[in-house]
Amino acid sequence: VKGFVSLVGAGPGDPELLTRKALRRLSEADLVLYDALVAPEVLALAAGARRFPVGKRAGRHTVTQEGIHHAMVRAARRGLRVVRLKGGDPFVFGRGGEEALALKAARVPFEVVPGVSAAIAAPASASIPVTHRGLSSALVVLSGHAEEAWRPVVDSLAPHSATVVVLMGLAGRAALAAALVARGWRRSTPSAVVWSASRPDSASWRGPLSSLHKAEPGEALAGAPGTIVIGEVVSLAAALAPVVAEARAAQGGLR
Ligand SMILES: C[S@@+](CC[C@H](N)C(=O)[O-])C[C@H]1O[C@@H](n2cnc3c(N)ncnc32)[C@H](O)[C@@H]1O
Repeated sequence: VKGFVSLVGAGPGDPELLTRKALRRLSEADLVLYDALVAPEVLALAAGARRFPVGKRAGRHTVTQEGIHHAMVRAARRGLRVVRLKGGDPFVFGRGGEEALALKAARVPFEVVPGVSAAIAAPASASIPVTHRGLSSALVVLSGHAEEAWRPVVDSLAPHSATVVVLMGLAGRAALAAALVARGWRRSTPSAVVWSASRPDSASWRGPLSSLHKAEPGEALAGAPGTIVIGEVVSLAAALAPVVAEARAAQGGLR
């Protein structure tokens, strides 16, 4: 096999949050297979490559997981430099591990280029430090997609023992909040939702855990990706966010 596959993390959206290695792989790629959440500005950096969407969004599968594996293997065997481009980090809820195993099984050489995960970028963009001395010394990242996946983790987590960050959790947020309260978390636990972090249309909500189900981004952001943050660290945003916003404005609307 002469070709090569790079499983590349595209970060949360802002092209300036790409790693230098991701940027180089994109600019040298022959073929880019990208997920639905990859921002168009990031994709545009692969100017010399053929680009194909293979992502799934809200149940709509364009290509099956096996189809993605076949496409990567076939292209690499033809000698192409393939970038498999995924939102955030390829190994955080991105099925990157499955793709790496498929490439290994097919004896196709590959690498993994980490990316800035929404699990970190979304809280940061809302001025929430995910750990903070005296407030939180652990970070738990959950997939909120299926209750049977998060339930055992929530049930085993001592109340207020960690910052909880939830990806793919918007639809199930009421059930998740109820489960945490039932487990002993205070109803007043500071919580946040950050939509479209690092993108120009980003928005956020902050409030008590008991109101999490009411968090809505407004019509313009309906269907936008959102990350939930639960824990005392969210209270730091009240002090930090205005200062960050003021500094950005003073720099001429720095993104
Ligand atoms: C399938 S997971 C993939 C996560 C990705 N591999 C990562 O490390 O960020 C997709 C989820 O990530 C979160 N997400 C991705 N991009 C986001 C963004 N720009 N702002 C807020 N949340 C985002 C949302 O919770 C979304 O449902």
